[in-house]
Parts: sequence; C-alpha cells; structure tokens
Amino acid sequence: MVSAAIRARSPTLACLLTVRAAAGISWLDGKCLAVVGDFVITSPNVDFVPWFELGICRVQAMADGRFGLADFTNTPQRFSDQFPHSALIPEPPRRMTSSQSVFWRTPGREDFMELPGTAFLDVGNLSAAFLREVIPLFRELRDDVEEWEKTHPRDWQLASILTNVTQAFGRLQYATYYFQDLVNDFAYFSRHMLDLNARLAFVKKYNFRSVVDGSSDGPGNLAHWAIGAWTAEPAHVQWLLRAGIPVWYVRTKRDFAASMSTR
Ligand SMILES: *[C@@H]1O[C@H](CO)[C@@H](O)[C@H](O)[C@H]1NC(C)=O
Ligand SMILES: *[C@@H]1O[C@H](CO)[C@@H](O)[C@H](O)[C@H]1NC(C)=O
Repeated sequence: MVSAAIRARSPTLACLLTVRAAAGISWLDGKCLAVVGDFVITSPNVDFVPWFELGICRVQAMADGRFGLADFTNTPQRFSDQFPHSALIPEPPRRMTSSQSVFWRTPGREDFMELPGTAFLDVGNLSAAFLREVIPLFRELRDDVEEWEKTHPRDWQLASILTNVTQAFGRLQYATYYFQDLVNDFAYFSRHMLDLNARLAFVKKYNFRSVVDGSSDGPGNLAHWAIGAWTAEPAHVQWLLRAGIPVWYVRTKRDFAASMSTR
C-alpha cells in the first residue's frame, strides 16, 4: 500500500516524517520532510514533496514545445513577488483529467492538415476539430477577464497575458505552420492559457485570502488542485499558507537544526 502511494505521486520524494500534523499548525511546522543534499524541505500544508529544481538549470525546448521539468507549468517554482499567481497553475495530472484537458495536449500528426497544392513539404494548419475543442475555454476565460475589468482597476499582468493569448489564438486559427512550429506555438498558447487562468484566480480570490484581517489568522483552506511554490523566505511561507496554496519551505540543514533547538 505504502509503496503504491509513493509510486503514484512520482516524481516525488517519500515523506520521511510527520511532524505535528494535527491542529494549530504554523508556518514553521511540517506535515512532511525531505532531505536533499544540504537542504531540508518541509511543508506546513501538504504531505508530499514534489520534484523541483533548487539550483540554476538549463532550459531547453522539448519535442512537445514545452520545457520539460523546468517548465513553470509542469513543476512548482520558487515563489516570486512578481509572479505569485504561478503557484495557482493546476497540477499536471489533475489538469489532464479536467474538462479543459485539450489545452495541455500536444497536437499530433492527425491534428495537422497539410496544405494541398504547395511545393513546400510539411506546411499546414491546425485541424478545425482540434480548434473547436479549444474555443470554448478560450472564450470563457476571455469573457471572465472582461467581466472582471468592468468593475475593477486594470491588472496589467492579466491584460498583458490576455493580449498574448489572443494573438496566439489568432495565429492558431489562421496561420499556416511547419508541423514543429505548430507544436511549439500551441505549447506557447497553452502555457499562457494556464498563466491567464492562474492570474485570474489570484486577482479574484487568492490575493485577498492571503491578507490577515484579524478575524482569523489560521491557514487557508487548501487548493489541492494547485501546483504550489517553494521558498526559502518565512514571509512567503506565511503568505502561501494563509492563502491555502501548497508551499514547501527550503532551509539549509544548519538553519533547520537551529530552528528546531529554539522551539
Ligand atoms: C486550414 O487550411 C484549409 C485549407 O486552406 C482551410 O480550408 C481550413 O479552414 C484551415 N483550417 C483552419 C482551422 O483554419
Ligand atoms: C507578451 O509578449 C511579449 C512579446 O513577446 C512579451 O515581452 C511579454 O512579456 C508577454 N507578456 C506576458 C505577460 O507574458
């Protein structure tokens, strides 16, 4: 049973220890713990540690147009004040079973319509059938942003991501591509759709959930579907815990040992 549970979450590190998992948790407590090299990783709100890059990594596009494990839509990133919404990207396995799964698919040869009557090989466009599946969610998200903007000050990131998504959508509708260029452009579109979805959730809800208003300063209800973020800053851990977003706190072994002995 245990090994099956661990395998199911691959690629993750098994949880080695449960520290005070019950009531009254604070940002320093851990529901699980993993030791990676010189670092100790704990989480106050989830019981697993996924794979993420602790150092600097080389980013390279793969055959599917994405950046493998380095892609911010595939792996939790270090929390950034500039892009806090990245932690609200849906976790990859969940998004594959959602009604929106077509977005994270990769167009195959069967989705590529070669243009007839051209002297060039491998030139074509995205099939109308594939596009039809993509249109409803694109419209829904775009309408949600427009609805939000009617009653709230403009969020520049939201507007900028929507502009880029809309342009990419136009290309997918009308442009002709080489097959690999189509795959790459669809991956760009899909990555920005995830980003737009996450930014919208952030400005509408999570930005406010993270604020301590005095009535309650406990951890927020956990968004199990979110990819989460890791950080070395206690203030970020508090922010994410409060907002109810999965968070992993990374400390050196020395800092971890020091914080244990001062409790
Ligand atoms: C792809 O190109 C064909 C031929 O030019 C065209 O009939 C079709 O509508 C195009 N598909 C899309 C999704 O625009
Ligand atoms: C939108 O695209 C432009 C041009 O490629 C880029 O500079 C900008 O950072 C993009 N905006 C977002 C929010 O990704």
